[in-house]
Parts: sequence; structure tokens; C-alpha cells
Amino acid sequence: MLERSGWWRGATVYQIYVRSWRDSDGDGTGDLTGIRERLDYLSWLGVDAIWLSPTMPSPNKDWGYDVSDYYGVHPDLGTLEDLDRLIAEAADRGIAIFLDLVPNHTSNEHPWFVDAAGGRRAAHRDYYVWAGPKADGSPPNNWLSATGRSAWSYDKLSGQYYLHNFLRDQPDLNWWDGRVHDEFDRILRYWFDRGVSGFRIDVANGLYKDALLRDNPPVEPTDHPAIKRGGLRPIYNANRPEVHEVYRHWRQIADSYSPPRALLGETWEFDPDRFGDYYGRGKPELHMAFNFLFVEAAFKSLELAAIVEGTLAALPSGATPVWTASNHDVGRFPSRWCDNDGRAIRAALLLLATLPGALVLYYGDELGMAEVDVPVTRQLDEMSLARPGRPSRDRARTPMPWTADKNAGFTAASARPWLPIGEHLANNVDTQEQDPGSVLNFWRQLAQLRKAGLVGTPGPLERVLLDEQVWAFRVGDVTTVANLSPKEAARDLGPGETLTVMASTNPERREKKVPPELVLGPWEALALGLSPG
Ligand code: NOJ
Ligand code: MG
Repeated sequence: MLERSGWWRGATVYQIYVRSWRDSDGDGTGDLTGIRERLDYLSWLGVDAIWLSPTMPSPNKDWGYDVSDYYGVHPDLGTLEDLDRLIAEAADRGIAIFLDLVPNHTSNEHPWFVDAAGGRRAAHRDYYVWAGPKADGSPPNNWLSATGRSAWSYDKLSGQYYLHNFLRDQPDLNWWDGRVHDEFDRILRYWFDRGVSGFRIDVANGLYKDALLRDNPPVEPTDHPAIKRGGLRPIYNANRPEVHEVYRHWRQIADSYSPPRALLGETWEFDPDRFGDYYGRGKPELHMAFNFLFVEAAFKSLELAAIVEGTLAALPSGATPVWTASNHDVGRFPSRWCDNDGRAIRAALLLLATLPGALVLYYGDELGMAEVDVPVTRQLDEMSLARPGRPSRDRARTPMPWTADKNAGFTAASARPWLPIGEHLANNVDTQEQDPGSVLNFWRQLAQLRKAGLVGTPGPLERVLLDEQVWAFRVGDVTTVANLSPKEAARDLGPGETLTVMASTNPERREKKVPPELVLGPWEALALGLSPG
């Protein structure tokens, strides 16, 4: 698949939080070799590409999202040679590798910032965003960081504040300085030259800040809940239009490679049209963009259908939509959406697998892995610790359960896993592989439909039926019907012939063909094909 141009269209991408997936050297932290040794599992899962959560050297204030060297590998995770080997052996299996690229900010220990903090005349001063205090000494404006406090920290030495939209250890880069563009051009080419297939771009909507540093306005009652959580509308400290020029340029770089490399943006944008803009209007930008309207949706038919249809209408033609329901920030869909009910988990996987476009699974989604209630004494995410009362992001970062052994086969039995394992022992890969009725084997069935190109290919979606229990849609020849409720639902899919059952979440449903009048069990979802003849 790597040879094919357009290889990302309809791809199944698997996000690996490297520290938590598999530890090969018994230090309690997952690593690159641990992944390489399980590439066969990923092939078996039907994965086309892996997105590795941050791999670059970092003081780990935000677990790699505070980069101190864009050209290296974090020693906890392995070496550059380990990464090269992983890329090569993945390519042998037709699996592409996405690295996580953090262009919005660096670590405060990055040599650029160490130099910049040396004084107003430092060579790298303008790589970052500095501004003087207001007359009363307070920060330059009202911008808030992800911790809910001021996004500015005071630097006594120079008498100026620097900007950080996240932790104070993550100073924001200043994209108004052309040298920052040149640095990232080099970084992109360096990794593409090494065989990396693409980047997941962190805070892709954030790079540029308002040149006048204007105050953000208050949120409005009609704003999306995710915006309201931030307290202010982030229209000046992020989401500036100038960012699109960066992606038009990066797209040219990505396209100059053979096979072309792909860009997948973390685009926190809740307006469908502005979200679509990240794919490029007229001139191409990102190949794929994370859809946070979908990620943040409730698992309800009317809401999901509205978001999916609204998204598809807003994307430029030919765009590859991306569907995802779990990640290391928002949590795991089996807990968030499905209350860990296996029936609902299967229905969610079937929906995700049959929507047209790329799918990003988070490690453990294929097992229906639940979030773990990490005791506060073992929590490691500073961003969450800074906001008590909100669930810790650590709940979705705990180790992958491979076996029923102590430490779940994630690391040596004698090691201390970096985050606790939780109560996953019954739900591990080993046990589920052997159980034909497991979530894992159900996912495999869906993956095979995707691999065969029967579902998941980008294309128009036609609504067949929608009410507050059931959503049915057709893409190409395949109809998806999902009862997103705990109550039985009898529905008629309309005039037509018998349909072939390609996949069903209900192990009791043994018929190979069904009439268009269906009785759906609680949380039952089906993928149905047209019956020949
Ligand atoms: C988004 C990442 O997914 C999150 O984990 C991180 O804290 C912020 N960006 C800042 O880099
Ligand atoms: Mg290790």
C-alpha cells in the first residue's frame, strides 16, 4: 500500500501511545523495539498505518509534547536506529509510520528557548512570543492556557512575558518569524528522508497568534461545549487564518516525495466550514484532519448523524474524512460512549469501520479496553493535575493488556509499569484472540471488510433512516444500520430485496440474509450488502 499514491484514503490508522504499548527491556516503559516485535499483531489487526505518540527527546513535562530535540529519539523509547528498523520492518508489511510533530511550541529546555531566554537581543529571541507587561505589571492580555490560568509567564531577566498556550514549560513558537518556517521545513524533510510516511500535527490550528495580541472575547451560550470549557473564545491566541499558508507549503513538501507523505492535523475546530478549510480550498493543505465535533459527540443517533452529514457536506470534494473516538486526551470510547457495555462497543466499532474515510483507532479500542481510574498518587499528567475536578488524561494512557500474567505481558513481571495496569486481565489480547466471540475478533472481521475495500472508502453517504434510536446510512452498496439504544427496535429499511449480512454485533444473529423489515436487538448494528440476484 505504501507505493500507492493516495494510500491514506480509507486507511485504518492505529495510534500507539508508545510508553504504554509494549516494553521490550523491562524498564516499565513501552518502547520502539516493543512495537517492532509485535508488528505481526498489527498486520493481523488490518492496520495500514501507525501513529506514534511523541518519540522525540523531551523533559516529559507533557510526555513528549514538550520537545527538546526535533531530530532525535527519546532514550526511554530507544534509539534512532531502533526507529529506522521499526520503519523498515513496518514497510515490509505495508504499514506506514506517522510521527507526532509539535510545531506550536517547544520545551523550555529546547536550545532555542534556552538561548531566547538569555535576553532581548538573543539570536533566537523572536522564535518565541514575548510581550511587555501592562502598566500594572499584569500579563499583556487575557489569554488562558490549557491549565485555565494565564497563558503568559513573566521573565524577570528581560522584564517581558512569554506565551505558552499549554504548560509554562512549553513556550509557544512565533510563526511570524520566517526562521521558524525554515526550521520546520528542515525537520519535515529530515524525517521524510528517513522513510517516515507522515506526521500527525499537534495543535495544528494553533501556530499563528494575533499580531496585535488582542484579548479573546468571552464564550457565548451557543458555543460548542468544548469551547466553553476553555472560558474564552480562542480566536486570537490560535485559529488564525495565516496558518493555512503553512499547510499549503508543507503539502508541497509532502507531495514532492514518492510515495507522497501524508499530513494529519490535530484541528480543534468546531465550525464545519472552517474545519473543512484545513483540507484546503482550491490549493491542497492537510490530507486528513481530526474531527473534534465527532470526537466530542454523544453516542446518540441524531447527534452523530448530524455531525457526520454536516462534516461530509463541509469538506472539499475528494477529501478524506477521519473518524476517531478515543485518544490520549479525550479518553476511551468504550467507557465514554458505551459505559463499557460490549454490545455498544461493537456497535461503535461497526459504525467507525463503515463510515466513509480513514479511521484512527486508539490502542486498546480493538479490545474494547476501558479507562482506568488511576489513583491521584500515581497520576503523571501535569495538565490534568493543574485542573482538579476534571478526569485525568492518565485514565486513557495505561498499559496495553497482552496476557493474563502479572503486569499483563506489557512489561517484565518484576518491573513497575510507568502507569498502573488496571483491571484488564480478563480482557487481554491473548484471551480475546482465542475467543471467536470477542470484541477483538469482531474488529478483525470489520478490518477484513475495510481491507477488501467493501467499507471505509471515502464517498457520498446517503441517509436511509434516522430517528432517536436508529441510524441507517448507505455508502456505495453497503448499508449500515445501528440501534444506538438499549431498547429493541423494529424498522423497515424501505422497498427492496433481501440484504446480505456482512457483519453483525449480535452473535445470536446467524442468518446470512435478512429482509428489509428488521428487528434490531439492543445496541445492535449491522453492515448489510445488496444480495446478488
Ligand atoms: C495535544 C496533545 O494531544 C496533548 O496531549 C498535548 O498536551 C497538547 N496538544 C499540547 O501539546
Ligand atoms: Mg522499555
